Amino acid sequence: MATPAATASQGAFDRIGGHAVLRRITDRFYDLMEQDPAYAGLRAIHAPDLAPMRASLPSFLAGWSGGPRDWWDKNPGKCMVSLHAPFAIDRDIAGQWADAMRRAVFDSAPADDPITEALADVLGRMALGMAKG
Ligand code: HEM
Repeated sequence: MATPAATASQGAFDRIGGHAVLRRITDRFYDLMEQDPAYAGLRAIHAPDLAPMRASLPSFLAGWSGGPRDWWDKNPGKCMVSLHAPFAIDRDIAGQWADAMRRAVFDSAPADDPITEALADVLGRMALGMAKG
């Protein structure tokens, strides 16, 4: 049986729910981006086919949250910040990313665990930190 101490020491990847929940968050995020006109500007800077992103983002988030690092193994030397450099990311677009991701996280991650708020918060800060104007 998991003791409170064991639960507290569990890594973020496991506490969020592992690959299954990261895939759910990602699918909800891109569904919102495709369906909600509030995110039209964000959708417009993405490729027409979001299937590669639906596969890639959960893999990135897994390693980033302390789980398996497959994304880094598949993308040696690739930098998440510099791969965004070509895109016109202003505060409005970054805010759309943060807002859609916040909704996706709360729709998909454990409802009764502060990890959910922490995840939405830190991803939102990362997105806003990537705004160039
Ligand atoms: C500021 C808000 C952001 C915008 C507007 C944005 C936009 C984009 C776009 C347009 C792409 C290329 C996708 C395509 O070709 O269709 C991309 C790739 C990617 N984004 Fe973001 N992004 C943002 C924030 C983030 C954040 C905060 C993360 C990580 C937590 C992230 C993770 C990724 C990854 C991992 C890829 C590339 C996947 C790969 O090549 O394997 N993005 N992003």
